[in-house]
Amino acid sequence: MAYSGPFQPGDRVQLTDAKRRHFTLNLVPGGKFHSHKGIVEHDQIIGMDEGSVVTSTMGSDFLLFRHLMVDHVLSMPRGAAVIYPKDTAQILVEGDIFPGARVLEAGAGSGALSMNLLRAVGEKGKVISYEIREDHLEYAQANVDEYFGGRPDTWDPRLGDLKDVTVDDLGGPVDRVILDMVEPWDCLPVVRDVLIPGGVFMTYVATVPQLMNIMEGIRELQCFTEPRAWESLVREWKVEGLATRPEHRMNAHTAFLVLARRLADGVTPPRPQRRARR
Ligand SMILES: C[S@@+](CC[C@H](N)C(=O)[O-])C[C@H]1O[C@@H](n2cnc3c(N)ncnc32)[C@H](O)[C@@H]1O
Repeated sequence: MAYSGPFQPGDRVQLTDAKRRHFTLNLVPGGKFHSHKGIVEHDQIIGMDEGSVVTSTMGSDFLLFRHLMVDHVLSMPRGAAVIYPKDTAQILVEGDIFPGARVLEAGAGSGALSMNLLRAVGEKGKVISYEIREDHLEYAQANVDEYFGGRPDTWDPRLGDLKDVTVDDLGGPVDRVILDMVEPWDCLPVVRDVLIPGGVFMTYVATVPQLMNIMEGIRELQCFTEPRAWESLVREWKVEGLATRPEHRMNAHTAFLVLARRLADGVTPPRPQRRARR
């Protein structure tokens, strides 16, 4: 699929009308987009620049842009809840997902994180995504295939329980492990066994009891750095003259992020120094 340049067959295009309503179509030569505001021929759009306006048979204008990955993630069919873009951004940067990285992910869920990881690891990387539920894996595969216009060679989606996975199953150690599941602490022994020394482990948990469990689990294994925990809060602003102010509504809580790095084998983690109580 193309990320930029004039529209081509196969592109996923978002049409926005005067009321800021969005409609999405896959460009097919000879195809037609029908709405109560008239018909737009796909051939009118093919060859136009992004950011152009197309007019329907009934004289209505639609603004045209390619679907961004974030649009795809928020509008695609879901089997499981997706990781929100604000948290994905944290995972990609804090988790240091680099071009060429070998990344292990579980569960694949609806494939939202998978597609972001795939784009970040690039053509020389690898993303192995485990999913325990067949129906969720099907959603993930359909969503990833639709976004990329086919199955990326760099993606290896697998049906299975991550708890049973060995380093041999993965064809060797991985650089990064990202878990988004209800009980990630059950998979910590696998994370220990498959993560390369210095590798980054991140997980995403929604509740405080989960956060406490995973932090304790990481500490107990004694093969990781002291874990960090945080959350990301994003608040939109309305910017209109004297009415400029933060929006009233926000997604105040999605989940907590946890990060730890794998120590080399046999290394005892330095004890974190805490301030003495008065
Ligand atoms: C919240 S969803 C993941 C969503 C995904 N990160 C996304 O952005 O689309 C959690 C998934 O983990 C799967 N899961 C839970 N435990 C698992 C395990 N031990 N191994 C593999 N998958 C697991 C669940 O079936 C579920 O689909």
